[in-house]
Amino acid sequence: MAQEDARSGRLQGVMAFLFQNTFTKAGTVITTSSAISLLFFWAVELTSTHAIHPYLGILLFLILPGIFVGGLLLIPFGVWVRKRKARKQGEEVHVLPPLDLASKAFRRAAIVVGGLTFVNVLIVGVSAYRGIEYMDSTQFCGMTCHSVMAPEHTAYLDSPHVRVGCVGCHIGPGAGWFVKSKLSGLHQVWAVNLKTYQRPIPVPVESLRPARETCEQCHWPEKFHGDKLVVKTHFADDEANTPRQTVLMLRIGGQSNGRYEGIHGRHLDVEAPISYQTVDPKRQVIPVVTVGSRAGTPLEFRTEDAPAALGERRTMDCVDCHNRPTHKMYLPEKAVDMAMAQGRISTRVPYIHRQAVEALKAAKGDSGQALAQIASSLDTFYASQYAEFHKAEKALLATTIQEVQKIWSRNVFPQMNVTWGTYPENIGHEEAPGCFRCHDGNHKTKDGRVIASECDTCHSILAQDETDPKILKDLGIKN
Ligand code: HEC
Ligand code: HEC
Ligand code: HEC
Ligand code: HEC
Ligand code: HEC
Repeated sequence: MAQEDARSGRLQGVMAFLFQNTFTKAGTVITTSSAISLLFFWAVELTSTHAIHPYLGILLFLILPGIFVGGLLLIPFGVWVRKRKARKQGEEVHVLPPLDLASKAFRRAAIVVGGLTFVNVLIVGVSAYRGIEYMDSTQFCGMTCHSVMAPEHTAYLDSPHVRVGCVGCHIGPGAGWFVKSKLSGLHQVWAVNLKTYQRPIPVPVESLRPARETCEQCHWPEKFHGDKLVVKTHFADDEANTPRQTVLMLRIGGQSNGRYEGIHGRHLDVEAPISYQTVDPKRQVIPVVTVGSRAGTPLEFRTEDAPAALGERRTMDCVDCHNRPTHKMYLPEKAVDMAMAQGRISTRVPYIHRQAVEALKAAKGDSGQALAQIASSLDTFYASQYAEFHKAEKALLATTIQEVQKIWSRNVFPQMNVTWGTYPENIGHEEAPGCFRCHDGNHKTKDGRVIASECDTCHSILAQDETDPKILKDLGIKN
């Protein structure tokens, strides 16, 4: 009997505290219901094998915890309002029993307040942790900024880094990067909501730019060495779509036994760093290059037309060459070559290399319009020029058209003004200046030294646009 009385007394005290006015009432209802929802969702999430839906993620990890904390804050606010009101009327209100360890009322209140505080801290702590984790997830990056980052997200899904989260590259190691990323993230969410972002997103990116230390968490120069055989397959614009191959031996190089060699060695030597100055924000025109030296004076290479006013000096790192390690956007020729080399587009379709490239380049307008134009351009060509093939190979033609449409959707994003060639890659020299921004034979020191530009500086060309190159047979590699 006595025990029951004590329990109901305790309950009454808590109730009186929580329901003292509208604010505390509202706070109690909000806190309790959001806490129950949170616990329920966490339980569902723990036991479910499916990834949660992105919008549910926002509700679950960001909005609900926000409501919970809001409700929690309403309670002390309500107490404060009540106290102020009472004080105005000359009354003194005691919300909690006075501090006295011997008093039963005080101990009772301490246990209740302590218990509730513990539960609340636990919920807020878990929520904050899950919220940060969620904001770092690829799902969140790709979705919150949905249409804005669609080009990068699409390219990423088709890259070797697809298991590396966005934050794996855009956020470096350590506390400094953590703070930087959260500030920048806030700024970006702001920009997306106010639609103040630029289309296309300008590069090089200023904040959250991956740097050497980010890449070197997983790749490092000590690990690179030797040469790499690269085989490129191109298809001719003839009826048979004749395949031709270029075989290069690339001098990847690296650091070994304290020596820096080849592509990865020479530009990454921290004791003799290479730095450069540009004239354009995209860093495509580089008139001045400086090479540090262990011996002392650095060497400066300049083009003849280098202007007096130059941009900031940058020390070269991975991203100056690998500017698209995971957001590669292909030009039509290259994309069609790749699809054909992988067998997604069949060489059996006459002139398909030429026709696909033509259809891709001609497609205009929004995605619906462009995809329809691609389909009708190809269909019309085969109906008029290859009527029999068109009739006999309906299924092949349909999948071919689908594959060509996929190439368009993978590389062109009208809503972000991203089209063919918007984001050139700095590796190589075929589609953009790339390596030739410096290795073009025009950068000279005062005494006439030139940055190397001979063709075998970076690769030996073992075959160039050959059908069935002999070298591949000799090496035992077929097609
Ligand atoms: C392997 C590393 C890597 C990963 C993983 C990665 N990025 Fe990038 N990202 C880069 C680099 C490098 C750049 C180009 C930087 C430059 O040119 O300044 C870049 C540029 C961008 C840009 C600027 C616009 C552009 O196209 O260059 C956006 C937006 C972007 N990334 C979003 C994302 C999103 C979203 C994800 C996850 C879905 C992601 N990134 C994953 C390395 C990465
Ligand atoms: C969290 C680890 C991680 C980080 C960070 C990372 N990478 Fe990678 N990278 C990988 C993995 C895994 C692969 C795939 C390896 C494979 O296919 O053999 C890869 C592959 C590559 C490749 C080969 C691509 C190809 O087409 O074969 C390049 C180039 C590359 N990364 C450059 C970079 C650059 C530049 C950065 C920094 C902007 C970077 N990576 C950051 C893990 C990482
Ligand atoms: C001077 C330009 C340049 C710089 C700087 C550079 N790379 Fe590379 N990297 C290349 C080229 C060129 C290739 C070969 C591309 C190919 O395979 O087609 C390559 C290849 C790679 C590969 C794939 C290697 C393989 O064997 O397939 C990885 C990974 C890579 N680089 C990572 C890095 C990282 C990390 C850094 C910075 C520490 C870096 N690179 C700096 C030009 C550069
Ligand atoms: C910002 C300018 C710059 C860019 C861009 C650049 N390099 Fe270099 N590279 C240099 C300089 C400077 C040297 C040192 C030249 C010297 O010592 O004569 C060098 C040296 C080299 C060497 C060593 C040559 C030797 O004789 O040992 C190779 C190989 C090389 N670069 C390949 C590349 C490749 C491949 C790319 C493009 C992916 C590239 N570089 C992009 C500036 C650049
Ligand atoms: C500074 C380094 C460098 C120099 C100098 C250089 N190349 Fe290259 N070259 C590259 C790189 C890097 C690639 C790209 C490899 C890749 O995409 O994987 C490349 C690719 C190529 C390709 C293949 C293109 C394709 O997609 O089929 C050819 C052909 C080629 N180079 C020819 C030449 C010739 C000819 C010269 C001399 C005039 C030359 N290169 C000078 C670095 C260089």
